[in-house]
Amino acid sequence: MTTILAIETSCDETAAAVISDGSVIRSNIVASQIDLHAQYGGVFPEVASRAHAEAISAVVGRAMSEAGIDYAELDAVAVTRGPGLVGSLLVGINFAKGLALATGLPLLGINHLEGHIYSLWLAPGFVEPPFPLLALIVSGGHSELVLMKAHGVYQRIGGTIDDAAGEAFDKVGRLLGLPFPGGPEIQRAAEKGDPRAFTFPIARTDGEYDFSFSGLKTAVMRAATVQPTGRQIKRERGEERGSALREDVNINDVAAAFQQALTEALVKTTCRAAADFDARAVLLAGGVSANRLLREKLAAALDLPVWTPPLYLCTDNAAMIGAAAHFRFRAGFCSALDFEARASWRLGEAVYVG
Ligand code: KG4
Ligand code: ZN
Repeated sequence: MTTILAIETSCDETAAAVISDGSVIRSNIVASQIDLHAQYGGVFPEVASRAHAEAISAVVGRAMSEAGIDYAELDAVAVTRGPGLVGSLLVGINFAKGLALATGLPLLGINHLEGHIYSLWLAPGFVEPPFPLLALIVSGGHSELVLMKAHGVYQRIGGTIDDAAGEAFDKVGRLLGLPFPGGPEIQRAAEKGDPRAFTFPIARTDGEYDFSFSGLKTAVMRAATVQPTGRQIKRERGEERGSALREDVNINDVAAAFQQALTEALVKTTCRAAADFDARAVLLAGGVSANRLLREKLAAALDLPVWTPPLYLCTDNAAMIGAAAHFRFRAGFCSALDFEARASWRLGEAVYVG
């Protein structure tokens, strides 16, 4: 049996988990900072790294004690190396390096997006489909379409050229006066609204498998808010500032139409890519994969198995990092102790060296 302690601090959750054989969750602790960031309407990097530093020791301690094991029973320590906020990543990386030094355990620096993909290996009932698999990773920071040709072998075939899908949910949520994060709030509002009340356009992109959501956000702003005068625009220049909601607008309808348009774009492009690349199954992962409409539409549109993680593994966690690390470890990969954080790191780049 291979048992790995995994640590994740790339954004606003301080997380640690103990995973055996890449699929058994022995503990999975997530300390969320959402309440700290809500007042800013988004993740405030400086606040995030301080909160990670305060929480990390207790979170890792709890992951070990809930798993009921000792450091001597571990085979490796894994940590998210990137992509993410550098100040946040460094807290996890330095803690993991310290642990590896003190225990002599091998250390693995793992790609966060690869972690999201491997959240499926932890899904109840998941049976590894034959490759190639098409992964749609949609979160607050990323929207990527990645072809997984084998364990650890990726080809990035598309992604967002501006806002990530979750970022669009969060920005539209803020526009509609909903609390942060906007995704779950918009889903709730949309369930009470009529998606046909508005028709929001989705921008075309030059890249065949790319997404663009900033135009959609602007269309929502035009439909739902009082448009500022030319003089106000000059004065404020801020995209979302100075835009009060129109009194006659039904927020639930706007949320429903927005969610409809965004999920439609994701589903159409994913279906096209799945056919063009002969994918044998589709893996939906990342925070936005919690969205019910997206799950339903994707499953209905594809003639292929569509795997989605359980809700508690959609948003950031360390269990998924442990699962990804298991397959890396099995392939003989180990990081040097002096590796650095990588703020941006696309899947498909051959960077699993050192
Ligand atoms: O994966 P994640 O925890 O963090 C990143 O790696 O970015 O994703 C967080 C994102 C947020 O933008 C949040 O609004 C979105 O996932 N989200 C949702 C839902 N639940 C979370 N978006 C749409 N519908 C949901 N039910
Ligand atoms: Zn994430």
